Amino acid sequence: GIRLFNKIADFRQWRREILLDRKTLGYVPTMGALHKGHLALVSTAKSHCDHVALTIFVNPAQFAPHEDLSSYPRTLQADLDKLASLGPGVASAVLVPQVEEMYPAGIDLDVSKQKGTFVEVKGISEILEGKTRPAFFRGVTTVVSKFFNIVQPDNAFFGQKDIQQCYVIKSMIRDMHFPIKLEICPTTREEDGLAMSSRNTYLTPSQRAHALVLYNALKKMEKLYAAGEHNVSSLIKAAHAVVEEERQKVKKLNEGWEIKLDYISINDKSDLSEVGDKLKEGGCVMSGAVYVGKTRLIDNLLVN
Ligand code: PAJ
Repeated sequence: GIRLFNKIADFRQWRREILLDRKTLGYVPTMGALHKGHLALVSTAKSHCDHVALTIFVNPAQFAPHEDLSSYPRTLQADLDKLASLGPGVASAVLVPQVEEMYPAGIDLDVSKQKGTFVEVKGISEILEGKTRPAFFRGVTTVVSKFFNIVQPDNAFFGQKDIQQCYVIKSMIRDMHFPIKLEICPTTREEDGLAMSSRNTYLTPSQRAHALVLYNALKKMEKLYAAGEHNVSSLIKAAHAVVEEERQKVKKLNEGWEIKLDYISINDKSDLSEVGDKLKEGGCVMSGAVYVGKTRLIDNLLVN
């Protein structure tokens, strides 16, 4: 069966046995409410490594005071059942620590009141997602660095769904000399193309019917790019038009919720830096965020 740990010291003892056994360890960090996207990361990890460990931890430090920390879905038993359904020996261990053990100095959602140790990756954490969520990546890099120290994996598996998170963690691994190889796994989607996300459960049926708006906007840019349109502002403008059209449709429904664009962006594939107005060879990341009602959805496409 899967070993379940609540105490960091007990997990560490299990990890030491794996090491003494000369087996490799793959690691999948999660906030739980597991779906097929998470499970695909676990399966990929198992294909690379002898053992796979997960952490399930809703990390307070990456939520702003106005965000959804208290309503974030917590479904531990269902999560463990899904991991077991992958078959015996796919997921070896799950660590579900307490907030108090992860943050010995406590954790206040108000950054100005925080105490203790934080890990920041300056620069890349402030662009794109970081503009709307200023302390988000600081919370992510802090908790992931804690987990890297606890789990000490050979490989860590992250989803392309959260593409900027992958780039931020890659920089952190480099800067902090974590001896860990980062693997980025493709985005798992619903049949209609919606990127799977624990937050999709917030969508009402009517909102779900319009939730593809961001994916459709990104696909529009990808299609125009493939047809030879390499001008960045033209591509962004076309994506904005897709979102605006859907926004108007929803407005006419008059159901008391709205579609609101946060951003659509095209960035350099090597480091998410800004691209000039004309896209060059070498590839780019097309990404965005859209509010469907109160739910903030993100998605991205890697082009080239
Ligand atoms: P969470 O949103 O639970 O995601 C855990 C991992 O699953 C992340 O690497 C994420 O990119 C990946 N993932 C989520 N949806 C996916 C999908 N549809 N396809 C492929 N991969 C997907 O990301 C976090 O948690 C947290 O920020 C965390 C890294 C655990 C730090 O708290």
